[in-house]
Amino acid sequence: MRTVTSDNITDTFINYFGPDTSPRTKQLMASLAAHLHDFVKETQLSHDEWRKALELLKWTGDMTNDERNEFVLLSDVLGVSSLVDMIHSDPKATSSSVLGPFHVLHSPERAYGADLKGDLEGEIILVEGVVKDTQGKLIAGAKVDIWQTAPNGMYSSQDPAQDIDSFHGIFTTDEAGRYAFTTVRPVSYTVPSDGPVGVLLDATGRHPWRPSHLHYMVSAPGCRTLVTEVFPSDDPYLDQDTVFGVREDLVVQYQAQAAGSFPTSGFELSGKVNQAYSSIHFDAILMKDA
Ligand code: BEZ
Ligand code: FE
Repeated sequence: MRTVTSDNITDTFINYFGPDTSPRTKQLMASLAAHLHDFVKETQLSHDEWRKALELLKWTGDMTNDERNEFVLLSDVLGVSSLVDMIHSDPKATSSSVLGPFHVLHSPERAYGADLKGDLEGEIILVEGVVKDTQGKLIAGAKVDIWQTAPNGMYSSQDPAQDIDSFHGIFTTDEAGRYAFTTVRPVSYTVPSDGPVGVLLDATGRHPWRPSHLHYMVSAPGCRTLVTEVFPSDDPYLDQDTVFGVREDLVVQYQAQAAGSFPTSGFELSGKVNQAYSSIHFDAILMKDA
């Protein structure tokens, strides 16, 4: 096409595809171009607005390094990460939720009933559940990788005062598919807002808070690895998670347990907890591998 107009630019773009372009690339790029071109026309985007958008993307790249990926955070606050999760979910399985930037590889393997809180103080929670597949079959030997914030709101990788293994652990389900551990209640915290994502949140009057949560990565042979989070039902940010990670099946009630009722055996903290504590139950249901 020699004379490109605002009416034919999308078709022209598609006609420029070379013969070796794969069908899926064609589909993705044609749709992306159509939506982008419509967006420009619909909003009558100005030169100044487009320049600012490109500067924001450049800043996003400049802030990205091995420790921090600002593009992932941008995808999270735009709701794209969660939408990709949702369109590939199986309603019979546990919903997946954002991975976030604080998962560490090679967390320590911990025994059934181990404690993650170490010397740190906070409301003790006892967490237990099973791993099963969508047919209800309990899965022995599944890996349940857990990570969370310390009571100061920081992950160990953000906090030089914490051991990197602090509040991280990988549990292996027993022959009945069960896992269990103790920890302290995680706290609500803010996503990093000192870069372009912070500017975007500010410009749209949004806060950077996430409801408190426990992160889970659950894997088992023959099943799709589940990356998810578990939220307490009373968190004030449950209805306004800035990365759109909350799903109904991921919200659990913290059940108050009376002082003196902590299990006398089976837990690393057995015999050491006299105060009141809370318990939560969370089962992870895995999809079969495609
Ligand atoms: C997190 O939960 O750790 C997290 C998720 C998305 C963006 C930032 C943090
Ligand atoms: Fe988190």
